[in-house]
Amino acid sequence: MRHLLDIGDLGTGGVEAVLELSEPTPPTGGPTPLAGQGVALLFEKPSARTRHSMEMAVVGLGGHPITVRPDEVGIDTRETAEDIMRTLACYHAAVGARVFDHTVLERMASVATVPVINLLSDRAHPLQALADLRTIAAEFGQLDGLTVAYVGDANNVARSLVAACGAVGIATRVASPAGYGFTPEVLDDLAAGGAEPWCTTDPREAVAGADVVYTDVWASMGQDNEAGDRRQAFAGFTVDGDLMAAASPDAIFLHCLPAHRGEEVSAAVVDGSHSRVWEQAANRRWAAQGALRWAVGP
Ligand code: CP
Ligand code: NVA
Repeated sequence: MRHLLDIGDLGTGGVEAVLELSEPTPPTGGPTPLAGQGVALLFEKPSARTRHSMEMAVVGLGGHPITVRPDEVGIDTRETAEDIMRTLACYHAAVGARVFDHTVLERMASVATVPVINLLSDRAHPLQALADLRTIAAEFGQLDGLTVAYVGDANNVARSLVAACGAVGIATRVASPAGYGFTPEVLDDLAAGGAEPWCTTDPREAVAGADVVYTDVWASMGQDNEAGDRRQAFAGFTVDGDLMAAASPDAIFLHCLPAHRGEEVSAAVVDGSHSRVWEQAANRRWAAQGALRWAVGP
């Protein structure tokens, strides 16, 4: 059983394998490993990119997506996460879930008879990281030897990004305010997977000469009550034109989106010539197809 809860689940060579399976397929005549089958997509939090890219990925592979809201199933209120998983596996070839608490995904996977795919948790966002690598490869024609600088909250997106980069030979630098960087436990976990980010509290130091500058929101979904404190803590961490100027002249800017213009990124950067955020969003569909093909097999 192949679950994708975070990048480490792909194993040695797995990231490259999924990237190969992520090549865009033609509208008709492509592989249809999901023909006649369903995929359930459960969302505890809002989503634009993940829901739509996954639904279209399932359609592209010949399957039928069914998106489920939390109030429709009541995770651990109407019935346990385990029983919801057992139920969905009666009808579907795979189950994707976006959850507040990563351990809910682990509990689902522990009883699952079909693959479970993480659609974002508080810990990880592997489908985003796979799309990010596709975007970087398309831009530079290579992955190995590049440098990605992540500026901001060392969150779910940052963790999966660093893990994925480590798997393909991309060096990572992470700049976060004190108290918002990776914990020693996360760094140990990343190191076990072969990723050793260089961490700093100075955005300019992280970005110097980098090929890719990446940021994400300062307050993730579920952290809305911390947004005010975080705005203060992250002052000086906005990716703006001055900061981009410290990167390589050919550097690209990436953001998983949604973006908050004027907070973690200036409008001039996210809408400017170095930005590849829409290519990145489009790649979510192909990365989702690759992940599904990897999970369900031929
Ligand atoms: N980047 C991303 O996962 O976007 P959504 O939250 O809209 O799915
Ligand atoms: N870190 C953000 C990513 C959104 C795609 C969050 O978890 O809300």
